[in-house]
Amino acid sequence: MDWGIRNRLSRILNPQDGKGVMLAVDHGYFLGPTEKLENPRKTIKPLLKYAESLMLTRGILRRCVDPDSDIPIVLRVSGGTSILGEDLSNETITTSVEEAIKLNASCLALSIFVGSKYEHQTLSNLSKLVDQGENYGIPVLAVTAVGKEMARDARYLALSCRIAGELGAHLVKTYYCENFENVVEGCPVPVIIAGGKKLPEKEALNLTFNAIKDGASGVDMGRNIWQSNYPVEMIQAVRAIVHDKLTVEESMNSFFLNKNIRSNELETLKTT
Ligand code: 5RP
Repeated sequence: MDWGIRNRLSRILNPQDGKGVMLAVDHGYFLGPTEKLENPRKTIKPLLKYAESLMLTRGILRRCVDPDSDIPIVLRVSGGTSILGEDLSNETITTSVEEAIKLNASCLALSIFVGSKYEHQTLSNLSKLVDQGENYGIPVLAVTAVGKEMARDARYLALSCRIAGELGAHLVKTYYCENFENVVEGCPVPVIIAGGKKLPEKEALNLTFNAIKDGASGVDMGRNIWQSNYPVEMIQAVRAIVHDKLTVEESMNSFFLNKNIRSNELETLKTT
């Protein structure tokens, strides 16, 4: 693999353990100002210290992240649909590789919709993006999006992840499912998991733990972090599972400990 691609990937998956914690804040690209991401700058700022890379669109990057930040950027470059539109799978490439280079992106992210009406178009988007990214040493993260009517089971997700890997994606994001180890085994490149809809904190940590145990190379998590009432404590707990191999119980203890420390700090700030 090209040196530039390996170098950029090493900014996303820590070379020490091959794992990473990516914070996803790209949801507005089709959902608009979704809950707790109405003001992305406010949501992102306290989490930047703990996230190892940040997944977002160019518009939010330019306006909501200061350019002196050294966080590796995973730039979402697919879209062109909305929650009100005819079909979410009808995506196109929305941002050029040259623009991604100007923004100093470490990785490009694009959704594929296997089994959907626009399957061919999105897979063709992925192939083109891999060609373009490889011209400049920029890796591509394929996001295996799932339509409402599609089952999130190992058979379907393994199919999507394998196709993404076959078309040249350097990293694949999918959902956790039963028999997840089969999804990882069938995919030639590292697989990371999305968090999905907001769950109670313990369930989200359980999901993270099981995914790592079954071979995931980390998370690309959004709502289960920033829709929590304790987003900083949540991302710290997720990191502890991904890198420090904490159990769910141990990570919950660290969640409560950090929550208490922070509320004491906030109390002190208020009174000084
Ligand atoms: C939206 C995405 C999100 O980045 C992805 O789903 C991760 O976020 P969450 O953990 O909230 O599911 O690709 O299309």
